Amino acid sequence: MRSTHYPHVRQPITIGSMAARNRVMMATHGPRLPQPRYLRYLEERARGGIGLAGFNLGPLGLMQFPFGPGRASPPGSEMMDGVPHHPLSRAGREAYDRMVPFIREWVDAVQRHGVCAVGQLYHPGAAQHSDTFQPVVSSSPMSDEFERHRAHPLTVSEIAELIEAYRLTAARALSTGVDALELHGAHGYLIQQFLSPLFNRRQDEWGGSFENRMRFPLAVLAAARAGVEDAVPIGIRLTGPEPAGGLDIVDLAAISARLEQAGAAYVSISGGSYSGLWRGAGNAYVPSALTPWGANVATAHAIRKAVSVPVMVSGAIATLEQAEEVLASGSADIVCMVRALMADPELVAKGLSGSGNEAARPCIGGNECHYGRPLACAVNPRAGREDELALATTEKARRILVVGGGPAGIECAMAAAERGHTVTLVERARELGGMLVPLARISRQARFGDYLAYVRARLAALAVDVRLECDGNAALAVDWQADIIVLATGAAWSMPIGLPANAQIDAAPLPAGPVTVIGGRDDHLGPLVVTDHFAAQGRAVTLLTECASPGQGVEAASFYAMMRRMAERKVDIRPFTAASGLRDGQLHLRHTLTNAIGTMPEPGLVIDLESRHAAVDPAAAFAGIDAECHVIGDALSPRRMVHATLDGFRLGAAL
Ligand SMILES: Cc1cc2nc3c(=O)[nH]c(=O)nc-3n(C[C@H](O)[C@H](O)[C@H](O)COP(=O)(O)O)c2cc1C
Ligand code: SF4
Repeated sequence: MRSTHYPHVRQPITIGSMAARNRVMMATHGPRLPQPRYLRYLEERARGGIGLAGFNLGPLGLMQFPFGPGRASPPGSEMMDGVPHHPLSRAGREAYDRMVPFIREWVDAVQRHGVCAVGQLYHPGAAQHSDTFQPVVSSSPMSDEFERHRAHPLTVSEIAELIEAYRLTAARALSTGVDALELHGAHGYLIQQFLSPLFNRRQDEWGGSFENRMRFPLAVLAAARAGVEDAVPIGIRLTGPEPAGGLDIVDLAAISARLEQAGAAYVSISGGSYSGLWRGAGNAYVPSALTPWGANVATAHAIRKAVSVPVMVSGAIATLEQAEEVLASGSADIVCMVRALMADPELVAKGLSGSGNEAARPCIGGNECHYGRPLACAVNPRAGREDELALATTEKARRILVVGGGPAGIECAMAAAERGHTVTLVERARELGGMLVPLARISRQARFGDYLAYVRARLAALAVDVRLECDGNAALAVDWQADIIVLATGAAWSMPIGLPANAQIDAAPLPAGPVTVIGGRDDHLGPLVVTDHFAAQGRAVTLLTECASPGQGVEAASFYAMMRRMAERKVDIRPFTAASGLRDGQLHLRHTLTNAIGTMPEPGLVIDLESRHAAVDPAAAFAGIDAECHVIGDALSPRRMVHATLDGFRLGAAL
């Protein structure tokens, strides 16, 4: 359904004492950013029209629990690898109280723009993501399939202490000024580790029957309520159905109803775990690009029938049209989004303005934003760099010739034009997009097409002169009187064997039969996507990688989703394998650990992705031209889209 005015999205909603101006929540996510950058990140999204924003209240002490031996480190170092203060000790209370002003800055950053602040109380249990040098704890001595630490099972007295820590943290959270609290009962973390029969193997009153497994979340809810009294509503986030043997939709409905009875003010439905690796690679809470949109909407719909409090839903809801559809269909009362708002902080304001003048910049779903490193977004270089990349109008408008219409060139052209420069963007191919064009075709991902449609419209709105099937050479630069030349000509494949150019990977006809993909040291999605393309044609495909695994550098959810594809399509993956050449019809191989030499007698069609190299010699290309010259993106050094767009934007913002 297409709605231009989004009547359901724009409806205000009240949950207890919290009144939100519309139905879009930027769900909790803790992008790794230093405080000043996080504040700017939050503020930009609050200004962009959302109704509610969630934060992870980790710094307030709940998850800092010294279950191992050792003396507490000085306050401050408990956030890294020191022994943390016990949150119930006097020193602990004082240390975590001192974090209140830090969190209050987050709250102020959104409330100042009319957005409700929702603070999330989170304890990961066994699924602790960073190594704190402390033992992890859980309901039972289990381990998370991804994090793999073996947990210390909480004793009854430790459970009581932890529940008291929830109370103290809730009270501390209240003094930050939040409008609501949310218990993190989802994503395979501690509360779910008590709820789920797959995790919880206890024989005492905290495990076994449904009532016993409910005891921990109910006690936590009661403790948080005691901490804040009646001051703010408290909701809970839950994960959708677990794999066989775990919580199913009937259990989730019963859990939600029981929590509502106990005073939960809303239920927020998410899905899956951090990696999606749980009795098979499946649902991750930051869904991979292979996940269809609205992954958890059906679950939310079922839960909404079981409770009378508002239901929220998150997971791969990427546009305001989709949000409207979810709300209009009665599946949820509030739609939570994260990545769509990273990609475009003004998504809500643009849609609700009703002008239809500017489309939102679409998220392409590759999950560059979900690494254990500072936030970076492949399509929005400004995410997390709002100050560094603020676009000031130029004082001296110049004529800028951008050569190469891939992600780096496009971003540079858009940023420079937005600042008031006169920009021409030339592209040798018939369409803009560079690497994204073959990638869109072979991955069959509509999102790349959506992104390219967005940039075409944006370039037109910014009056960038786009010339396709045009060579950006010295004659053009002179003729056009360029003051500045930006070379964004991307990378090329020398393809000594197999194919002449990457753009032809998807060309027909290619020789039938088996395929060997040389992934080399590319530890990202490229080799996996190309392999998947050929495997989907029913060919026997061998993937050689010099890494321990292909995709070793890919974000967890996308990695496991793609590796599952490889397994299902019976791809022959050979780790630690370098290809040194094709001679006499045989591919010559070297084991990268032992240096053992071997051969592959009938490799079939060989796709060499290792030979990717910068496509221009910048010094030679425009030698003798009287213009400032810059090289960006893969032409500077072949990397990923996230690097190319950042290069492009940084240069465009600085020229
Ligand atoms: C960098 C990052 C950090 C996240 N941290 C949290 C968190 O602390 N608590 C939580 O409940 N969800 C967290 N999430 C999950 C999001 O709230 C959301 O459920 C997920 O991104 C799916 O929504 P989307 O498809 O709109 O991005 C995080 C997501 C990202 C990308
Ligand atoms: S990094 Fe990728 S998945 Fe994350 S918000 Fe940006 S485009 Fe979307």
